[in-house]
Amino acid sequence: MHDIRLMIPGPTPVPDEVLREMARPMINHRSPMFSAILADCRKGAQWLYRTSHDVIFMTASGTGGLEAALVNVLSPGDRVLSLVSGVFGKRFADMAQVFGAEVHRVETRAGEAYDPARVAEALEAGPFKAVLMTHNETSTAVLNPIEQVAAMVRARWPEALILVDAVSGLGSAPLETDAWGLDVVVSGSQKAFSVPPGLAMLAVSPRAWQAVGEARCPRFYFDLGKARDFDAKGQTPWTPAISVFYALAKALERMQAEGLEGILGRHLELTTGLRSGLRALGMELLVKDEAAASRAVTAVFPPAGVAPSDFRKRMQAQYGIVLAGGQGALTDSIFRVGHLGHCSRVDILGCLAALESVLVELGAPVEPGRGVAGAQLAWQQPRPAAVGA
Ligand SMILES: Cc1ncc(COP(=O)(O)O)c(C=O)c1O
Repeated sequence: MHDIRLMIPGPTPVPDEVLREMARPMINHRSPMFSAILADCRKGAQWLYRTSHDVIFMTASGTGGLEAALVNVLSPGDRVLSLVSGVFGKRFADMAQVFGAEVHRVETRAGEAYDPARVAEALEAGPFKAVLMTHNETSTAVLNPIEQVAAMVRARWPEALILVDAVSGLGSAPLETDAWGLDVVVSGSQKAFSVPPGLAMLAVSPRAWQAVGEARCPRFYFDLGKARDFDAKGQTPWTPAISVFYALAKALERMQAEGLEGILGRHLELTTGLRSGLRALGMELLVKDEAAASRAVTAVFPPAGVAPSDFRKRMQAQYGIVLAGGQGALTDSIFRVGHLGHCSRVDILGCLAALESVLVELGAPVEPGRGVAGAQLAWQQPRPAAVGA
């Protein structure tokens, strides 16, 4: 028997100290006790988001947060530019379309980040009410250049709203909500926070609040206006996931103790170690460009003749390590290793060692020990600065 070691890009492993918070008894969500927890979470989230404006919590998974972002600022017929670098970018665009937006898409090839030149060209077809972006495209393990692209949007269409899916990106790679001029930024509790699923968070800029007042998409549960009114009273409009709030408050306390530099530096270090180890083993990575490599997840092609599903089954059965499969068109060709949230060097070394053993057993031409050594050697190099995507 093995303990399960989740190495998927969410849900992420929950530290014991955070998990224990979930066992606390229920409280009245219309009480000062709940308001105090909400206030702690808001303060912690503002710190992580790098914003002095509102952060609104909704009891939902990340997708609920993305739906809230769209329906609260858009009206049917609005023109929207969607930057798509994988399954999640496509889903965000599809959602906008479902709510009646006229969606223009710029799609990149799998494993590539947004191309600023193509974005510049697409922006010429504006004006757009909103531009949709994915900070960390989890399906292809790509980190997009949000700062650069947001600046281009702001320069060309100053009124356009910038809506960012940072569900898996926030807390793994740099993201500056206020400094980059982002209007709605969505994240989820089960990602870098290392909290169970259940809470979506939305940073909302003053410009976005103005749009909330004008938008005509129908909404009820996800009404940001209602959420703001209740937030002012230290409450949420509907019964919140109280236990997840307990956990989130503790997780944010731990994150602030580690510090932003520490958190982002650790994610970059884990990414660099894993990528170096896999390359040392001769494995092919989906994302070739280091600057575009996700700090939350790494997408890998197994050696020829090894089926990703078989490989993943063996990793779990023999070592308890749970890896993610590919998504969309990549389902049968890659596997993904999550290194998001509560993850350390030991996890990366253990994963590489297990991976080597399983590949050898499957007859792949890899030399045991090389992957582990690749990571160890990478970590001998001076630690790269984590700031700057
Ligand atoms: C980038 C991104 N967006 C959206 C989602 C959807 O979030 P959820 O499954 O919490 O609804 C995910 C989940 O993996 C994601 O990684």
